[in-house]
Amino acid sequence: MSIKLSLSSSEPLSVAADVLVLGVPEGSPMKEGALGDLAKALGPSMGKLVKRDEFTGKKDQTLEISTTGTDLKPGRILLIGLGNPALLTEIDVRLLGARAGRFALGAKASSLAIELPPVTGAERAAAEGVILGSYRFTKYLTGDRAPKHKLERATLLISGKASKDAKDAATLGQHIGEAICIARDLINEPPNELYPEILANRAVEVAKEHGLEVKVFDKPELEKKGMKLVVAVGQGSRRDPRVVHMTYRPEKPAKKKLVFIGKGLTFDTGGICIKPAPGMEEMKGDMGGAANVVALMAAVAALKPEVEVHGMLGCAENMPDGMAYRPGDIFGSYDGKTVEIINTDAEGRLVLADVLAYARELKPDLIVDNATLTGACVVALGPTVSGFFSNRDEVADQFKRAAKSAGEAMWHMPLVEDLRDGLKSDWADLKHVADRWGGAITAALFLREFVGQTPWVHVDVAGPSMANKPYGVFAKGGTGQGVLTFLKLIEEYASAS
Ligand code: BES
Ligand code: MN
Ligand code: ZN
Repeated sequence: MSIKLSLSSSEPLSVAADVLVLGVPEGSPMKEGALGDLAKALGPSMGKLVKRDEFTGKKDQTLEISTTGTDLKPGRILLIGLGNPALLTEIDVRLLGARAGRFALGAKASSLAIELPPVTGAERAAAEGVILGSYRFTKYLTGDRAPKHKLERATLLISGKASKDAKDAATLGQHIGEAICIARDLINEPPNELYPEILANRAVEVAKEHGLEVKVFDKPELEKKGMKLVVAVGQGSRRDPRVVHMTYRPEKPAKKKLVFIGKGLTFDTGGICIKPAPGMEEMKGDMGGAANVVALMAAVAALKPEVEVHGMLGCAENMPDGMAYRPGDIFGSYDGKTVEIINTDAEGRLVLADVLAYARELKPDLIVDNATLTGACVVALGPTVSGFFSNRDEVADQFKRAAKSAGEAMWHMPLVEDLRDGLKSDWADLKHVADRWGGAITAALFLREFVGQTPWVHVDVAGPSMANKPYGVFAKGGTGQGVLTFLKLIEEYASAS
């Protein structure tokens, strides 16, 4: 059951919510607006509190105020500093919503009200934030560990009457937030429950719910089509691989066609080149890229942009086994090139190679793939920044702008031509792994071999796809980082065409 979200122009302090969140611009006179009313109601104790905590409304400062013993309607009030109000963007409003959502969760609140700052797009951003911030994965908690409280209602407080546009924007924001939570749920799901067939089934369910076209290729079909690299990666698992192709078509025939591809390794043991045991459980999240694509397609269905959007998932499980693929093996590919296997733990690029070559056939205006592809990218950029690569400088710039306005941390990485030599094989057209240095780059260079001349962006989300603690709009576990950027990019293509 989803949160019931509404807009209201009520006075904040008159709203009967378990939690009320007020965003406070830096240096705002504590005597005006809701704060002034609050000061009046609380008397000198409020001034003392503000002084004690040195609360000035600086960005990210918080101050919790209890209303017990007053006749104020809200149960608890949280002040959140907004910093300089002239600099506020929808990114800040989304964060405000997420903070509020997270606080409400911690306070075991069933209702939440947030006073929105006057920023364009605030309704949608705040709605996204509330949904993202109040997310927690509790499916497998029982007894005392099972949550007994649930955030049921959220009210966004705006000045003036709520227009239809404002309501629609809030609803869209909620749908986008909920779509991103689909990605999180998929990532957090354990690998015994979520294997390629199940991931494909979930994609089909999401497609059906949202009126999207969907096709699933099972192992015999993958063999027939010649997706030899997907089959090779999956051959060590009792759980067969799948490739999923989802399509959103706008009502009017669209001028632009975009493809988004996700790596869907439902578990990555490393295969015969098995990974060390510590931390291996995190490899349940090696389908974060595919999860993002499922989420994106759900969000696109809500957004209804005037571009054609395809979502493709390369799903497999990488296991060591008597039938598993080995270093030294040579396989053909959907593209036709032969590939010599060097390290079976570099499985993601193999699966992506076949799906990229398949995507190319649609002659799209842009292909974006995203994948938890390399540890090297996490070494380079840290756990909270994704690295992206492109074969076109102008597309890279466009992608960079989309990430910036979506508020997601993404850094442009170079396709260093000198490193291309490392992919030369004595026995096949290509090796799939080069030397250790520049591991994120050589992985991207390998993928580039399969995109032809199509404009393309590769996003390595290995770091940000999962979080080991909550930050920003993210909860612990699967984050869905990337979806907001992809959505911004789609919106830009839609408005430009
Ligand atoms: N799924 C991993 C990459 C990864 C590492 C994702 C850490 C998230 C967190 C990928 O399949 C992998 O194992 N890559 C190898 C490549 C190497 C063998 C060339 C790596 O990064 O070590
Ligand atoms: Mn691997
Ligand atoms: Zn992997």
